[in-house]
Amino acid sequence: MDKFYTTTAIDYVNGAPHIGHAYEKILTDVICRHFSQRTDNAYMLTGTDEHGIKIQKTSAQMNVSPKEFCDMNAQKFIDTWKLLDINYSQFIRTTDEQHTKTVQKIFKKLLEKGDIYKHSYTGLYCSGCEAFLSEKDLDEDGCCPNHKKKPEVVSEENYFFKLTKYKDKIIKHIKENPDFIVPSFRANEVLNQLENIEDISVSRAKTSVNWGISVLGDDSQVIYVWIDALSNYITALGYDTENPSEKFKKYWPADVQVIGKDILKFHSIYWLALLMALDLPLPKHILAHGWITIDETKMSKSLGNVVSPKSVMDSFNMTEPDAFRYYMAATAPCGKDGNYSDDDFKEKVNAHLANSMGNLLNRTLSMLVKYFNGEIKPEFIQENELFNKAKRTIEEVKHHFDYYEVSEASQKIIELVDILNKYVTDNAPWTLAKEEKMTQCGQVLYTVLECMCVIASLIYPYCPNIAKNMAKQLKYDISTKLDDIKLNNIKEGKLISKEEIFPVFLRLDSELATNKK
Ligand code: ME8
Ligand code: MG
Repeated sequence: MDKFYTTTAIDYVNGAPHIGHAYEKILTDVICRHFSQRTDNAYMLTGTDEHGIKIQKTSAQMNVSPKEFCDMNAQKFIDTWKLLDINYSQFIRTTDEQHTKTVQKIFKKLLEKGDIYKHSYTGLYCSGCEAFLSEKDLDEDGCCPNHKKKPEVVSEENYFFKLTKYKDKIIKHIKENPDFIVPSFRANEVLNQLENIEDISVSRAKTSVNWGISVLGDDSQVIYVWIDALSNYITALGYDTENPSEKFKKYWPADVQVIGKDILKFHSIYWLALLMALDLPLPKHILAHGWITIDETKMSKSLGNVVSPKSVMDSFNMTEPDAFRYYMAATAPCGKDGNYSDDDFKEKVNAHLANSMGNLLNRTLSMLVKYFNGEIKPEFIQENELFNKAKRTIEEVKHHFDYYEVSEASQKIIELVDILNKYVTDNAPWTLAKEEKMTQCGQVLYTVLECMCVIASLIYPYCPNIAKNMAKQLKYDISTKLDDIKLNNIKEGKLISKEEIFPVFLRLDSELATNKK
């Protein structure tokens, strides 16, 4: 593997980020951090989607210019991703000049090619979706089923994109590459949608929408916001219709593009057609994740149950995001919906991260100090069958990540933690010490510590701070690539002193955590 390029959907900036947005960015960051343990060139793109009627209207209501409004809200996303340790390589805003210019060139190229043409049109526009809907998309009240609002009748002369020209090619691609859409059970949904596609309007008259990128040479029209937004995945890398950058050549096509299931149609139909029209290679996978609910209810402004990542962190006095990242990444099986509740969150992270994982390291190191003054004696160092289990776990985790099964991979890690806990219970090093079987006792501790290095590496994508703190106490190099983990990390000699031992994760309801602030 020589590079890994992953992207997220770019968020509309008409509101502040909530834990649904956070879920996607965490998922993508965990995937990217995992692949950074397998290649030196892992690249993650995220950003904000800033044009369109929705932003135009909201900013007007607030009496600020659209750009000021975007600046203010884009910053909220940037701040939140910082809080959550989202280690993106690049943050693109669709109001960036380079993006804007390249989108104009893309549009021009397709116009010259004949894939874009002018056409008079009357349609039903839903500003929530930023898309035209057909009669049969609507519910019994004539409303958009996603936004529960009547679409607006729009009659304009627009530019149209020849989506139908690429229909057969897209169908063929999806059928021939059953793992293109992850999870694959969503592919049928897309194939059904493809049956009825028509050419799509790719511009709007400035008289109805003016907050957007102007069509080059036709100042009466702005480019449709989805064409603008989808292009971000290549403009960010420096794609250019004449002279693509080295970075673009290095990273494109994307290895996996992570999006929510509600926008799969745009990514597996429109986006593919656009790339085909530009003669560019297609992304290798589209991962359509599920929906995050709060207490099993859809988040919505009207219900007043929108939860921000910061409010979760604050209510538990968390100074690091690891537990929240772990919970979000582990909560839903690949592509399925997930749920957040305070109680479940607290219970799960206390059980997995504090009681099982953190405590295991803490007890083992404390025993090493108590019985051996923190020293590893040469006779402790020996192979153990658990090493094979640890190596197998590395392979299983890699395998799950190959299919972007982030939650499933986390289960394998916790399984290994459980096995180690059982090993400690079964071998009772405290009893061995009491019986003065010191070599055996030391061997048990050594075995656990060696396997804990593997755990630190595997948990790192989910919990980078916890992993670093584990590695610090184990004197383990957390930047070790997965294929280079040898299970001979713990060396003979002094490993740790009493003062150097600290808990890597404090229970969320513990007094210590409450006082930490
Ligand atoms: O769709 N649970 O932006 P957006 C899980 N700008 N994921 C959720 C979610 C929830 N409750 N709510 C939103 C857009 N998302 C476009 C994308 S990409 C070229 C343009 C996900 O702000 C949603 O599925 O409405 C999407 O992937 C992302 O957050 C941004 O949603
Ligand atoms: Mg949305």
